[in-house]
Amino acid sequence: MNAVMIEKIDRLKRFHAIDFGDYISKGRMDNNVPPNYTLFGVYQFLEKLDVKEMTCLDVGAMSGIVSFILKLRGAPQVTATDLYKYDTFVLAREILGLDVEYRTGVSLKDLPAIFNKGHFDLIILAGVIYHIFSPLEAIAICRNLLKENGLMLVETAMARGKEPKLMLNTEMEDPIAQEKGTSDHVVSQGYDEVLRDGRARFSEDRRGRAPYHVSRSGLQAI
Ligand SMILES: C[S@@+](CC[C@H](N)C(=O)[O-])C[C@H]1O[C@@H](n2cnc3c(N)ncnc32)[C@H](O)[C@@H]1O
Repeated sequence: MNAVMIEKIDRLKRFHAIDFGDYISKGRMDNNVPPNYTLFGVYQFLEKLDVKEMTCLDVGAMSGIVSFILKLRGAPQVTATDLYKYDTFVLAREILGLDVEYRTGVSLKDLPAIFNKGHFDLIILAGVIYHIFSPLEAIAICRNLLKENGLMLVETAMARGKEPKLMLNTEMEDPIAQEKGTSDHVVSQGYDEVLRDGRARFSEDRRGRAPYHVSRSGLQAI
């Protein structure tokens, strides 16, 4: 990859960490956490899932890492949607040379007007429902787009403590509700130290290291 392309990748914000072969995008998280760690739970399911006959939808795909994994794992049809158009998605798709449909300017609520009921075998809803005023409705909307026996993976943030909580937003600085904002994402086994004092924390030897690697050849557990 030439220097111009590397500079272009580095300049773009909100880029998942993807290994393009001769360059790895830096990822959108700081160095104290492994790259893409909020998606480890999703990866754990995808590792075990045969998607080779699945029509897939990745809602709120951002720069598209999950869509690309699905395609690389052999899904015949992958559609990524997002409220915004991310240059990172367009660039990554081009570099990887993948045939993933990208529909932008699409709010989750728009989905039933675009896709038929029962259209998808697999829907990924990762890091999205905490952006939505009515998270349960978001899940119900996606549920209607699934075929019978279809599968939906929902990844989201969690609140601290054992008491039930309801929060109206996730602003850490100035939450509408009094409880502090969301603590962190539910992550894979072995990463439970992330729960301490409301911030992602990993022991020294795990910092910056992930149990998964995402590259041109797909998703690899490492
Ligand atoms: C935290 S990012 C998660 C990105 C990716 N799915 C992941 O897990 O890494 C949230 C994504 O949801 C999108 N989003 C936010 N509100 C949305 C809405 N109402 N409808 C659809 N997408 C939305 C954002 O543009 C962003 O790409």
